[in-house]
Amino acid sequence: MRILSIETSCDETAISIVEVEGEFPTATYTVIGNALFSQVDIHKEYGGVFPAVAKREHVKTLVPMLKKALEEAELLETGSTDIDSEDTLRDILSREDGLADDLVTFLSSYTLPEIHLITVTNGPGLEPALWVGISFAKALAHILKCGVVPTNHMEGHILASLYDVEVDNGLAPISFPALALLVSGGHTELIFMRNWGTYEKIGETRDDAVGEAFDKVARLMGLPYPGGPEIGRRAAIARDTKLPPFPGKPLPRPMIQSGDLDFSYAGLKTAVRNLIGDKELTEDEKNALARDFEDAAIESLYAKTVKAIDHFMIRTLIIGGGVSANNFLRQTFTEGLLASHPDIEVYLPHRHLSTDNSVMIALAGHAQFTTARTAGAIAYITADGNRSL
Ligand code: KG4
Ligand code: ZN
Repeated sequence: MRILSIETSCDETAISIVEVEGEFPTATYTVIGNALFSQVDIHKEYGGVFPAVAKREHVKTLVPMLKKALEEAELLETGSTDIDSEDTLRDILSREDGLADDLVTFLSSYTLPEIHLITVTNGPGLEPALWVGISFAKALAHILKCGVVPTNHMEGHILASLYDVEVDNGLAPISFPALALLVSGGHTELIFMRNWGTYEKIGETRDDAVGEAFDKVARLMGLPYPGGPEIGRRAAIARDTKLPPFPGKPLPRPMIQSGDLDFSYAGLKTAVRNLIGDKELTEDEKNALARDFEDAAIESLYAKTVKAIDHFMIRTLIIGGGVSANNFLRQTFTEGLLASHPDIEVYLPHRHLSTDNSVMIALAGHAQFTTARTAGAIAYITADGNRSL
């Protein structure tokens, strides 16, 4: 089966073409084309992601990404693609200003290869951004005469962490029960997995997500968006050079003693704001504060995760989402955790799959497609946009 997957939930525009052999969870997924455009430089100017700007950029970038993914997959051929009804195509894309023109122009110069299934992120994410991807998926399905599987972005992050780690191009054969710690710009969640495809949320942030806290704290320190990588880089310098703590009251570890599995990051951000006050920070102070913040943020994640591991007798920990690119987090949850829990298996994504991408949407879409099909009821969007069984 050949899948074309689309991701536009936030500030990455991504399209992959993936050849699948077998059934989830033992299938192999060979990525033959993978195109990704990060809008980071555009959003930098605004210090964060604005949904309307993200939508505009997705509209501009989807057709170029389609072309790039097909080229990489050696599936791009000149010619022209038959469109049954250009009116229907324009109708499907009517809310995405300019996208129909770009697609029609593209189709007048190239043919599309056979695609069996389109998978597209349908949430969670920024609504205007999500819609661009969904409409584009429906438009392509109209031309290719295939189905569309609406795909959950967070399931994508979970499966991305298991992909190509122990099995070449496959998902690691994990032991259950498993726990997923999802840490991204929009989410901080603990998900209990009794088996493949079952997800039960057992903890989440009560306010800001941990990635959002990295971004906001970076902004308070005058560092560029996205703040996570920059804070991580500076925190590592502070640890290497053994900088003393940032002067003032030590940062709190929010919720660490609470009886539940929830998180909170708004208070930590406010504590950083209060520490900075109206001071002009030196480079050393920025580095020290980055480390102190990172220590507090990761310690809260760690405490609740260990609590869930012990309570639910977890055998596998899966960490996914953009913040899983953080080196200190990786070290804490591997060397650190294995010291007290030597039997637990820990999975982290390859670095290029830790932040948003479309490979993970192929994996999660296929999981959804196969599990629903074996259960006898596959819900997917047909080319005319209706959900069908
Ligand atoms: O999963 P993702 O790419 O997008 C969402 O679904 O939100 O996560 C983006 C988040 C941003 O907040 C970014 O600052 C954070 O991941 N991030 C990091 C690192 N790389 C990305 N946070 C800490 N350390 C990093 N190295
Ligand atoms: Zn994400």
